[in-house]
Amino acid sequence: MKALVLAGGFGTRLRPLSCTRPKMLFPIGDQPMMDWMLKNLSQGGVDTVVMAVNYMAEALVRYLGPTKYDLGIIYSREQRPLGTGGPIKKARDLLNGEPFLVLNGDVISDIDVRRLIEYHKAKGGLATVALTPVSDPSRFGAVELDWEGRITRFVEKPEKGKEPSNLINAGIYVLDPKIFDYIPDGRAVSIEREVFPLLANERKLFGFEFHGLWTDMGTPDDYLKANQIILSKYEGVKMGEGAKVDPSAKIMAPCYIGPGAEIGADSLIGPNTTICDHVLIGKGCRIENSILFPGAAVGDYSSVKNAILGENAILERWVKVESGSLIGDYSMIHDGVTITDGVSICPSKEVTESILERRQIM
Ligand code: GTP
Repeated sequence: MKALVLAGGFGTRLRPLSCTRPKMLFPIGDQPMMDWMLKNLSQGGVDTVVMAVNYMAEALVRYLGPTKYDLGIIYSREQRPLGTGGPIKKARDLLNGEPFLVLNGDVISDIDVRRLIEYHKAKGGLATVALTPVSDPSRFGAVELDWEGRITRFVEKPEKGKEPSNLINAGIYVLDPKIFDYIPDGRAVSIEREVFPLLANERKLFGFEFHGLWTDMGTPDDYLKANQIILSKYEGVKMGEGAKVDPSAKIMAPCYIGPGAEIGADSLIGPNTTICDHVLIGKGCRIENSILFPGAAVGDYSSVKNAILGENAILERWVKVESGSLIGDYSMIHDGVTITDGVSICPSKEVTESILERRQIM
């Protein structure tokens, strides 16, 4: 079974962290997020993955190589971004023959892809969209289904209370090779907006509802939520080799502390926190519901809550970072600064004064 993974987006909502690495390589626990998906595909019987790459393609090729988790990985490189549909058409020769899977590369799910494919074949449509229930579909696009499981309509960002269902497109599809006739050549195409509505009109589009783990990584809040969901699978605290935790520090599960990381006296870490390799945390720090990329350093008595620190970012002493803020790689936040309310700081920036309103610091 073949799968195409859409892994070429810019990840604009996660800038500045996505300025220096593709979103698919953002860490969650002890692995980049992409690994969680690939493992599930391998377990589900996929043997070949076509990785559709564009933005920062080399970083993905270098990390994944030609094979991982018993999957053969073939790269389909775009000269320019082709959206979510164009990469499928471009990879036509690699995918032709049987129905194949397509997955957004920023989704983590334990969906049973065998069942999804069986369902697709049983329904006999041109495409089957995996659907996941959410508590607030108004943020997404909800689908309307008929009694046979056909998708009749997509309602983008429905008004609260007027949603046709609580089911949203999970970014995981099975497509029949006939789909290639529906995707225009040589330009960016949105499969969701340009192709699926056409198929729905022709009554050839089905929905497959599933209730397992599902999360995508669009925004910083989504990323923190994905981190929380994945860490909860560890059932405790997972420690990398050579990590040092002072005996007076406390780690609250679920939490991951990477190899070579150091946690100082009286610090309180977790829950829902990924501390990557070689992160240094001083004494009396409080780190909660956050992700610290490799080599980040947090000075004494600083706190990080619902926030993400990029690679080698430095917080000096008595610094406070909160509320979905993103601190770019190699930034330096000076003593006593508070950063809150969804602030993003560009890589290598020095910040000497507090920032208390939503802003990008270039
Ligand atoms: P934002 O810029 O923040 O919207 O994030 P994104 O780049 O991830 O865009 P979006 O959420 O719409 O993309 C859904 C999936 O399609 C992600 O896995 C992207 O990597 C992928 N994707 C988006 N555009 C392209 C593209 O032009 N080429 C390829 N190969 N993949 C794409």
